[in-house]
Amino acid sequence: SPPQHIPLKILLTDYNRELTWEDISLTSNLLGAGHFGEVRKGTVMVDGERIPSAIKILKRGADDASKQDFQQEVNIMRHVGYHPNIINLLGVCINEGQQYMALEMAGNGDLLKFLRNSRMLEVVTPTYANTRSDFNGRTLSTLSSVQLLRIACDVATGMGHLSAKEVIHRDLAARNVLLTDNLIAKVADFGLSRGEGIYEQTSKRAIPFRSTSIEALTRRIYTTKSDIWSFGILLWEIVTIGGTPYRGMKSRTILGRLRDGYRLPKPRNCEAELYQLMMLCWKTRPEDRPTFTDLAEQLEGMIEDKH
Ligand code: ADE
Repeated sequence: SPPQHIPLKILLTDYNRELTWEDISLTSNLLGAGHFGEVRKGTVMVDGERIPSAIKILKRGADDASKQDFQQEVNIMRHVGYHPNIINLLGVCINEGQQYMALEMAGNGDLLKFLRNSRMLEVVTPTYANTRSDFNGRTLSTLSSVQLLRIACDVATGMGHLSAKEVIHRDLAARNVLLTDNLIAKVADFGLSRGEGIYEQTSKRAIPFRSTSIEALTRRIYTTKSDIWSFGILLWEIVTIGGTPYRGMKSRTILGRLRDGYRLPKPRNCEAELYQLMMLCWKTRPEDRPTFTDLAEQLEGMIEDKH
């Protein structure tokens, strides 16, 4: 069977690798599907080694926006280069007019589903049970708080690398973070990313409003600081073991309340220190928010305190 982990030398050798069709082997195992096409489990042959891969396939009849996103994602990945906390590109292939993007496989799938599958209570009332453990004396998740903090810290580290490369993700959320077999978190889905320092969205793509910053919602201004806001929401998703932010509130209501200064309340049993970190990410003035480096350091410190 293929190795569980991609040898680093393969990830580091050639980011512009063109795969031939013969290098790719697809299975019927569907990992995801979307507007653009689908993601299938498979393997790719790289430097004589068969590597497990998630292969993103751009469907033949894809619209221009999807084609653009697909190419953009490849370009961004090539620009960003290797990092252990992002999903890395193994290579691309065009066969009979169909485009394929071979990505590093993350065996535990997306973080949102993973969190929800780790829930130990059948019924979780989000307003009250937004806690990892000790909800009425019972444990809420099979994951320990150290494991959860480690995931958060990994994401902050991966995002730190993206921001150092001046890439704005624009859709950072638990569903766009993938977990390896060893529970290493990797930032994925660069389809919406842009390389500019500030990107003003002009297209009519749907906005993931529950995790989008106040200035991006109102003025369509995206910067690394708007990714920081989304990271704060992601922390909240982790603490609530896959809760839905602002559950039951409509997008207009959310924006109105955010403008009035309202923020997601502290989930029960969320440690004050962690909630403070979220609240810093949701500062109205983008420049008042921390950096990904700050966040990774803080989270690392919290992990150490638990040992
Ligand atoms: N779904 C989408 N991309 C994936 C990946 N790289 N690994 C596992 N599942 C995925």
